[in-house]
Amino acid sequence: MARPAHFPAWLPLLVLLLAAGGATAQTCLSATFTGGRTFLKCNALPVLGASLHWTYHAENGTADIAFRAPSSTAGWVAWGINPTRAGMQGSNVFIASQDASGAVSVLTTVLESISPTLTNGSLSFAVPVPASAEYSGGAYTIYATVALPNNSTSHNTVWQAGPISGGSISPHNPTGQNVLSMQNLDFLSGTGSGASNSRLHRRNLHGVLNAVGWGILIPLGAMIARYLRVFEGADPAWFYVHIACQISGYALGVGGWGLGLKLGSESAGLTYQPHRNIGIAIFALATLQVFALFLRPDPKNKYRVYWNVYHHSIGYSVIVLAVVNIFKGLNILKPATGWKTGYIAIIAILGGVALVLEAITWVIVLRRRKRNQSSGYGNGTNGTGLQL
Ligand SMILES: *[C@@H]1O[C@H](CO)[C@@H](O)[C@H](O)[C@H]1NC(C)=O
Ligand SMILES: *[C@@H]1O[C@H](CO)[C@@H](O)[C@H](O)[C@H]1NC(C)=O
Ligand SMILES: *[C@@H]1O[C@H](CO)[C@@H](O)[C@H](O)[C@H]1NC(C)=O
Ligand SMILES: *[C@@H]1O[C@H](CO)[C@@H](O)[C@H](O)[C@H]1NC(C)=O
Repeated sequence: MARPAHFPAWLPLLVLLLAAGGATAQTCLSATFTGGRTFLKCNALPVLGASLHWTYHAENGTADIAFRAPSSTAGWVAWGINPTRAGMQGSNVFIASQDASGAVSVLTTVLESISPTLTNGSLSFAVPVPASAEYSGGAYTIYATVALPNNSTSHNTVWQAGPISGGSISPHNPTGQNVLSMQNLDFLSGTGSGASNSRLHRRNLHGVLNAVGWGILIPLGAMIARYLRVFEGADPAWFYVHIACQISGYALGVGGWGLGLKLGSESAGLTYQPHRNIGIAIFALATLQVFALFLRPDPKNKYRVYWNVYHHSIGYSVIVLAVVNIFKGLNILKPATGWKTGYIAIIAILGGVALVLEAITWVIVLRRRKRNQSSGYGNGTNGTGLQL
C-alpha cells in the first residue's frame, strides 16, 4: 500500500537528463577549409566543441593539421602536442588570437608551467610549414605542418580556449571542460583515447550517482518517514520504505563518493577543496546514521526522544550539505545546462510535495489532537505525532 508511489515522478526526468548528456556527438567530416586544403582524417574532440583534421605522411614523419574550435572574437584557442607527458605543462602549442581590428595571429610557445609567460618562440619539434590561422563563422582554424616528435605517431595532444582581455591572452577557465581537453592521439590510425573521454564519463557518472543517491533518494526517504507515518494505516510500511530509500541512496552515494575521491587524487595540482571537504562530511554523517540505526532505543525507552533529535538533525544536515555540494559539483563539471535545470526541477518538485504534505500533516495531527483531547484521551504519543 505505501509502495514507493513517488518513484515514477522523477524517473522519466532522470532518463531525459541522461539522454541530453549523451547527445553531444558531432560530425567533423563535413568541415571545409580555405585555400583548397583537404585532410584525410578528422576527430571531433570530446570537449570544447573542437575538431582536429590532419593528413599524416609516413614517408617523412610529418602531419598537416587543421585545428578548429568555436570562440567569440574576444577569445583565443590553442592546440598542441606534449612530447613528455599528458597535460598542459611541457606542451608545445599554437595559440590563435585576434586584435581589436580582427587581425588573426598565431603564437608558438612551449608551456613551461601552469601559469606560463607566453613568448613567441620555437618548438621542440620542427614545423616545416609555419602556422597560420583564420577566424570565420564564430570559430578559429589553425593550420600547420609539424614533424611528429621522435618519429612516433602516437602523441599526447592538448587543446584549449580562453578569453582575451585588454588585448592580451588571459588564463582559461580552470574548471569544467577546460580541464578535460587532452587526449592521446594516434596520427596513423586516428584513434584518440584516454584522458578526456574516460575521465569525462567518470566525472559524469560521479555526478549522477551522487545526485541520485544523496540528492534525490535520501531526501525522498526522509519525506517518506516524516509524512507517511502520520497515516495510521501506513504504520510499519513507512519504516521499510524509508529504510529501503536510505540504504539504496547511501549505496549509490558511497559509490559516487569513492569515484569522486579517485578523480580528485588523479587531478594533481587542481583540487576543489570545499567540494571535497563537504563530500567527506556527508559521507561521515551518513555513515553515522547507518550505525545509529543499530543503537536505536526501543520506542518506549525514555532516551528514544534524544535519539530521535539526534537522528533527525544529522539526517537534515546530510540533506542540506548534499544539495549544496551537488550545486558546487555542477559548477565544477559545468555540464550541458539541462542537467542543472533538471536537478533544480527535481528539488523543486520534492520541495513542493513536502510543503503540501507538511500542511496536510499538520491538519491531521491537530485534528487528531483535538479529537483525543475531547475524548479525554490526552497526550498519546503513539508514534503518529510530528517530531522536530
Ligand atoms: C622520420 O622517419 C622518416 C622515414 O624513416 C625520415 O625520413 C625522417 O627524417 C624521420 N624524421 C625524424 C624527425 O627523425
Ligand atoms: C613530406 O611528404 C609529403 C608527401 O610526400 C610532402 O608533400 C611534404 O612536402 C613532405 N614534407 C617535408 C617537410 O618534406
Ligand atoms: C610569432 O612569430 C612568427 C614567426 O616569426 C610570426 O609569423 C607570428 O606572427 C608571431 N606571432 C605573434 C602573435 O606575434
Ligand atoms: C624516442 O623513441 C625512443 C625509442 O622508441 C624512446 O626510447 C625514447 O624515450 C623516445 N623519446 C621521447 C622523447 O619520447
